[in-house]
Amino acid sequence: MRVALTGTPGTGKTAVTTGLKKQGYTIVSLHRLAQKNNCVAGIDKTRNSQLIDIHKLNIIIKKNFATDTLVFFEGHIAHLLSCMEKVIVLRCHPKELKKRLLKKRWRMKKIMENIEAEIIDIILCEAVQRHSSKNIFEIDTTEKSVEDVFLCIYEIVEKNFRPTKTYSIGKIDWSEEILNKPRI
Ligand SMILES: Nc1ncnc2c1ncn2[C@@H]1O[C@H](COP(=O)(O)OP(=O)(O)O)[C@@H](O)[C@H]1O
Ligand SMILES: [Mg+2]
Repeated sequence: MRVALTGTPGTGKTAVTTGLKKQGYTIVSLHRLAQKNNCVAGIDKTRNSQLIDIHKLNIIIKKNFATDTLVFFEGHIAHLLSCMEKVIVLRCHPKELKKRLLKKRWRMKKIMENIEAEIIDIILCEAVQRHSSKNIFEIDTTEKSVEDVFLCIYEIVEKNFRPTKTYSIGKIDWSEEILNKPRI
C-alpha cells in the first residue's frame, strides 16, 4: 500500500516519521527520492523551492515500490501523485502553524504564504481532485503532540484504512482566520 503523508509545511510530517520509523514502518522522503532520480525540473527562484517533475516521480514510484508492502511517502507534494492509494493530510490551525514555521526559522513572507495555503485548504483541495474522498484522511494536529499524531496514523493503519468519521475530510475550517491574517 502506497500512502501519501502530506500537509502544508510545518504541520509536522517529518516530525511524525520518527515514531513511524521506530515502529518499523518504511518512510520515503519524496524530496530526497526526487533528487536521487533527477526529478527536479527546476528551481522556483521567488519561493526558493524545487520544482518537482510529478509525472516522472509517479512513474519511478510505480516501478520501484510494489503495492503489497506498506510504504509512507512523505512530502507536501505526496498527494499530487496518482500512484498513491491512500492519502493522510496533516492539518494545523494557522496560529499554531505560525509558531511551528517560526521554529523552522523561515522568512516571514514564506511563513505567511504557507499560513494562507493552510487557511484555504489548498492541499486538501488538490488531494480531492486526484483521489477518492474515502481514501483521504485528515488529522488535526493543532492540539496534538507528535506522539499523538503518530497514534492517529497508527490507528488508521491498524483499521486497514477503513473510512472513519474521526479522520473524514471536510470537518476542518480555518476560513475565519483569513480575517485575522494581518494579526496572526
Ligand atoms: N504535533 C506537534 N506539536 C508541536 N510541534 C510540532 C508538532 N509537529 C511538529 N512540530 C514542530 O513543528 C516544526 C515543523 O515540523 P516538521 O515536522 O518539520 O513539519 P513538516 O515536515 O510538515 O514541514 C518542528 O519544529 C517540529 O518540531
Ligand atoms: Mg518536513
